[in-house]
Amino acid sequence: MPEKKQFRAIKGTRDILPPDSSLWNWFEQTAREVFESYNFRDIRSPIFEETDLFARSIGVETDVVGKEMYTFEDKSAALRNLSTFAGLDEQLTTIEDLLKTQQIPDTESNRSTLISVKQRVSEYKASLQEPGRGDSDKLLQQCFFLLYYFQLSERLTLRPEATASVCRAYIEHGMHALAGNVKLYYIGPMFRRERPQKGRYRQFYQIGAEVLGQSDAPAIDAEVLEMLLVFFRRVGLTRTTLFVNSIGDKECRPKYVELLREELLKVKDQLGADSQRRIETNPLRVLDSKLPQEQAIIEKLSRISDHLCDACREHFANLKNELKLRNINYEENWRLVRGLDYYTRTTFEVTAEGLGSQNAVCGGGRYDGLVELLGGPPTKGIGFAIGSDRAILSIQEGAEAHALPGLSVYIAWMGAASYPAAVSIARKLREAGLSVEMPPEEMKFKKSLGLADKLGARYALILGEDEVASNKFTLKRLADAEQNKFSEYELLEYLESERRG
Ligand code: HAM
Repeated sequence: MPEKKQFRAIKGTRDILPPDSSLWNWFEQTAREVFESYNFRDIRSPIFEETDLFARSIGVETDVVGKEMYTFEDKSAALRNLSTFAGLDEQLTTIEDLLKTQQIPDTESNRSTLISVKQRVSEYKASLQEPGRGDSDKLLQQCFFLLYYFQLSERLTLRPEATASVCRAYIEHGMHALAGNVKLYYIGPMFRRERPQKGRYRQFYQIGAEVLGQSDAPAIDAEVLEMLLVFFRRVGLTRTTLFVNSIGDKECRPKYVELLREELLKVKDQLGADSQRRIETNPLRVLDSKLPQEQAIIEKLSRISDHLCDACREHFANLKNELKLRNINYEENWRLVRGLDYYTRTTFEVTAEGLGSQNAVCGGGRYDGLVELLGGPPTKGIGFAIGSDRAILSIQEGAEAHALPGLSVYIAWMGAASYPAAVSIARKLREAGLSVEMPPEEMKFKKSLGLADKLGARYALILGEDEVASNKFTLKRLADAEQNKFSEYELLEYLESERRG
């Protein structure tokens, strides 16, 4: 007998079950409707990508890349053979074949690595034939090291976010050639190995939107924020605060970062270990610290708003005018630097009530230059991602209850003679867009109506011998037990008009 084992969802992941899943579907559907009214279109990118895509975009020093990514080696069967101790010639032939068949990417760097390996292999062979021509052990080691490089190029990561993927897709499909700005949205799971707690999961869901193109007009930033807030209002997420900031660009930020580093070095001893490390790696991130003992020190530091270059200052001022024009309330927060490296100029975050410490329901900003960093043409970009888990949690904890579509009609049939009529009307009602439940086996009326109640049906459609004989249906509204008789035509008319409200 195999050992009995209870399988459970992996820590930090969860099942979203009915009726919550209806709330999720409605939330996501509303996002689609709002975003499409702003002319955004859906993009579905893969759940995993090359590790290097995220490392380059998000930054190797960030928590996301440094600590939180789910990365794995995906070796094809042939690549796996490479790690067994096959002869060097065999390994080289395999690699050449793999490159030819595109099983390992036919990139510039893979091709040049192949040339290096070939050189090294011939040096190694020469060293065996003529002792003294080279250290053969070392050469062999170098050969294997270089061969291993090909395997590294197969490191894959479950996406921790989707902005990098959208930029990759933008480049890969030559979307810069499309007319106007490219406006895309996505809905789906992301993965980060964080410590699970309320509102923080290892598989979580984002609804994101990105605008890519040639213009960095502040009106784009403002329209993106307007769309976000229209969506939040539509789903009843109103107890929120929008924070905005500008973190400068490649002109002014490096100078500010240097200044910050100097100031932080002077107070290094009073900072926690994380901030001390960040003085070297990324001083801006110190501003994000929540450590109580660091707050007074941080408040005294120079602020980026006093060190923006003219172009960035003007961009930020125009953004604020655009927000005013759209009646968007916001708070400026000079410490809003965000945890991903690709941002320039505008950054923003929305927090919601009722969530405890994980209260950011949306984060975003500008990332001019990211497409270029990934090998694409110079491109401006801005976008955001909403954390659906948190946003839905906040909606559920708010006062407003949402009437979601549930079961409309339960067909209580009894007697073999009524069964064909029950099958036929169930199909017609479903075709009319109603949610219909019908017991697959005959049940006593009382039990059947009891089940209709428990399932939360709005109506019970009663179909017995009398109804079949008179060619009429009895429709009972379960909330108040009101009963009416209808012909099939009248029934469909009535229920359809009810559904349309
Ligand atoms: P982010 O701030 O890393 O930005 O994530 C956006 C939102 O995802 C957060 O505000 C939060 O609501 C949610 N989130 C993040 N991690 C978790 C987690 N472990 N559990 C639950 N929810 C989480 C980005 O991802 C950027 N790609 C946003 C962006 C788009 N910037 C420009 N375009």
